[in-house]
Amino acid sequence: MIHWLTQTHHEIPACDYLTETELARFQELKTDKRRADWLLGRWTAKRLLQTVIWETNGVTLPLDMITITNNADGVPDYRLPITDHRFSISISHAHGRAFVAATERAHAPIGADIELIQSRPVGFAEEYFTLAEIALGYGLVGQERVVWETAVWSAKEAVLKALHLGLSVNTRAVSCLIEPVAQPPGIWTPFAIRCDNGRLPRPAPPLTGWWRVEDGFVLTIAVG
Ligand SMILES: CC(C)(COP(=O)(O)OP(=O)(O)OC[C@H]1O[C@@H](n2cnc3c(N)ncnc32)[C@H](O)[C@@H]1OP(=O)(O)O)[C@@H](O)C(=O)NCCC(=O)NCCS
Repeated sequence: MIHWLTQTHHEIPACDYLTETELARFQELKTDKRRADWLLGRWTAKRLLQTVIWETNGVTLPLDMITITNNADGVPDYRLPITDHRFSISISHAHGRAFVAATERAHAPIGADIELIQSRPVGFAEEYFTLAEIALGYGLVGQERVVWETAVWSAKEAVLKALHLGLSVNTRAVSCLIEPVAQPPGIWTPFAIRCDNGRLPRPAPPLTGWWRVEDGFVLTIAVG
């Protein structure tokens, strides 16, 4: 089962919810924007984990007992004062909104991404998308094209996060086969994912993708 939550800056309270480890990390962040995004990501990840731990264990953990960590590559994880550690998480933030997804399996591949729906430069798809993706979007114009390009880009980021690679590899190493739609989906909608292992540093596991639109943003999840 996949759990998810979106939050905005306005939903962060003034109260303390960071652990000492997180406070130390916060002090190291250089810019106001990075600090704001990072805080919103921590807040959203902690709220989601607090909820799913309560749902699965019946335990309500205070937010300042959940530490959200990142490994050297940036991949997020968490530490709890209890030994049970059964979820894998992924974090994304964009334009004052954060999106976090969690799957109920430790070390399972999961990637989440949120993107504001906005038009991209002419030639964006040709630059970053695979031929299979470009073929799906062929002939799309106007807002339909804007939503589709945003969704494919977001899906790629979600897949590359699930593979723990981020944008360290060519975005054409993965194809996110999102069918164009007349109406942006307000519910989770599946899409196929194909990975070109010849372009990846290690073989990718099978992944499935989901996307939806909420308040002018595309949300995507890739999960194995
Ligand atoms: C990972 C990447 C695709 C994120 O895309 P983005 O649009 O800039 O940002 P998003 O808000 O969607 O996602 C950021 C989150 O992705 C996660 N993330 C970062 N690197 C990741 C990776 N290699 N794999 C999985 N998740 C990763 C983090 O949780 C990060 O948020 P946090 O730092 O607040 O915890 C992109 O930043 C990237 O590839 N950067 C290049 C690699 C890099 O600079 N890594 C940093 C090492 S510290």
